[in-house]
Amino acid sequence: MNENLNEIVNFSRQVLQNEVAINDAQKLKLLVDAIRFHEWRYYILNEPILSDTEYDFLFKKLEETEKIHPSWKVINSPTDRVGLDITENARQIGHLRPMLSLANSYNEHDLLDFDMQIKKLLKINVEDDIEYSVEPKYDGGGISLVYEDDQLIRGVTRGDGASGEEITNNVKSIRSIPLYAPFSKLGIKIIEIRGEAIISAENFKKVNQKRLEQGEPLFANARNAATGGLRTKDPKDTESRKMDAFIYTVSFAADHQNNDVLDTFKTQFETISAIGRLGIKIPSEGRKLCRNIREVIDFCHLWQEQRGQFPYDIDGMVIKLNRIDYQRQIGATAHHPRWAIAFKFQAKQAATRLLEVEYQVGKIGSITPVGKLEPVSLAGVTISSVSLHNEEFIKSRDLRLGDMVVVERAGDVIPYIVKPLTDVRTGIEQEIIFPTSCPSCHTPLVRQESEAAWRCINPNCPEQLKQRLIFFASKDAMDIDGFGKSIIEKFVELGWLKSFTDIYRLKEDKIAQLEGFGKKSAENLIAAINKSKSNPIHRLLHALSIHHVGKKVSKLLVENIESLFDLSKASKEDIETIKDIGPIVAQNVYNYFREPANIEMLRELESLGVNMQAISGDRKVISDNSNHYLYGKTILFTGTLHRMGRKEAQEKAEALGAKNLSAVSSNLNILVVGENAGSKLKKAKDLGSIEIWSEDEFLQKIEN
Ligand code: IVH
Repeated sequence: MNENLNEIVNFSRQVLQNEVAINDAQKLKLLVDAIRFHEWRYYILNEPILSDTEYDFLFKKLEETEKIHPSWKVINSPTDRVGLDITENARQIGHLRPMLSLANSYNEHDLLDFDMQIKKLLKINVEDDIEYSVEPKYDGGGISLVYEDDQLIRGVTRGDGASGEEITNNVKSIRSIPLYAPFSKLGIKIIEIRGEAIISAENFKKVNQKRLEQGEPLFANARNAATGGLRTKDPKDTESRKMDAFIYTVSFAADHQNNDVLDTFKTQFETISAIGRLGIKIPSEGRKLCRNIREVIDFCHLWQEQRGQFPYDIDGMVIKLNRIDYQRQIGATAHHPRWAIAFKFQAKQAATRLLEVEYQVGKIGSITPVGKLEPVSLAGVTISSVSLHNEEFIKSRDLRLGDMVVVERAGDVIPYIVKPLTDVRTGIEQEIIFPTSCPSCHTPLVRQESEAAWRCINPNCPEQLKQRLIFFASKDAMDIDGFGKSIIEKFVELGWLKSFTDIYRLKEDKIAQLEGFGKKSAENLIAAINKSKSNPIHRLLHALSIHHVGKKVSKLLVENIESLFDLSKASKEDIETIKDIGPIVAQNVYNYFREPANIEMLRELESLGVNMQAISGDRKVISDNSNHYLYGKTILFTGTLHRMGRKEAQEKAEALGAKNLSAVSSNLNILVVGENAGSKLKKAKDLGSIEIWSEDEFLQKIEN
């Protein structure tokens, strides 16, 4: 996949800089190659060369060229991933070879047995070593993909193993599945490969967050979201779930004469590496060629310990006899191959006692019951409290104070209660009575029909206020460095903070006199608070804790406004017309900006110097920056920046009308150099025409 890297990168640059002087036919072919290459870097290697905007630009160019010459469009063009048809009735398709299941093993003993059994079947001496290829056992949905003449022609679910549902359009919308892969280089005309479609823990969080913001029901876990995403009717729905697919088997391969050429591949490990070289996404982390069963056992134990660090949900490891000729020799039962076995990770459950329930008040007043547990060690972590979510959760499980309960760590992150052990109850367990008034301000709690949580609706509830202040200052919101939970709690206790506006009225000399503070730390805190005044307004909007207005929604909401106050003029319908904003969010935003006390508070923030204008990174098109130094310039950041992240710096530059480039060339105007800058700095110096700025100089320029 790498051979003409330089050519492709150069071509991409030329297109981006509008410097291509070739005919459309050549351009179309090169664009397809370039986009496939960049998709591979982005979705498969996770090492993009272009920024998203640059990639989008290439994609748009291809769309334009295909529109001018529709008949030149190649089969499975990258543009075919968009606007795929809905599948009304999925066809049942027989697999070219049955999709078997796996036998399970749970411990070292089982694995040693498996090794012994294989040696017996192969008539190999028990003392000899046999190689195994070990891979993660992904917890998603099994898929089979067929490529013919290098083009993806079909995608099918695992189904019952003999046949599955055709899901070609859905798999086409999974970006890590290439529409084209040059199997012909291996002499293969038709090939069936198999793997697992899954959603990374990170993307799963994002997908659910988005559903929350749009008032849609949440997915229970990444596995359900992935299997549902494979079988949905609408490929757009598959795409929105940000799925990935890893391929771990080649199950059929034939050449042009229709000869079986599966034996092109000698070992499982090499098979996977070979298709990986053709641009297919294969297991990388967690894959190992083990020389013998001892190494297999160690590797399985290692991943059992660190499975929480894996970016995807895995429920075990799969151990496969490495030599394909051996695999063929010992074959399969009707249920599973004899040459492979799953090593299932131990369920991470433990029993402990539920001691009491505390009720936490959230930043928008939701009351969350939190179970306090007798500390128990679960997969290496001590757990002493667990969220009980809401009243319904407690009722549906009939939880009682004093119960022995089974706790589990779901997805290895958040512990939760599976069930009480009712048969060991002694009779002294007590019913859990949900409070009817707020534990902080004693206002009667209310619950809307559509919501699971009871809420305190007192806008002046001290606990809510405290939580809102903590969130306001947090990294995701106004990002006030050094202004964390404990300091805010202290300032609230002292009566210094009663509202957001009070943050900007804090006095440095008073802070300096507090125990634990000194002159310097007080000065730093005030500097951090002052710095937050010039944040882009999407940060401020997010910081206000409006129900369902998260980070992404905040960005969308400010995209087309001049000032935050414009939202107070918008009707609910105006807000709803913004792409990706649903009626619930629109209603909440509308209500917030129609409340005079909120507007008054924002006006006060403004008078204290907090930015309310869309000037720094909010709006994509900025009209009044045309006289800014950066306007119309090209800029590139290299090395480590200390005062802001690279992305933030790029956004700031872009908001002021600059264009971010990703390589040094004579087209570059400004290079901003962080710590440990390398070859880019040298190249820029050699070219001589490029302005070289430090991070501080950049900051000065953008503040001007
Ligand atoms: S090999 C004939 N490898 O686990 C070999 N399966 O419980 C069968 N799975 O149906 C499949 N990760 O959907 C294999 N690295 C991996 C896997 C894997 C996940 C799934 C697969 C299979 C199920 C069996």
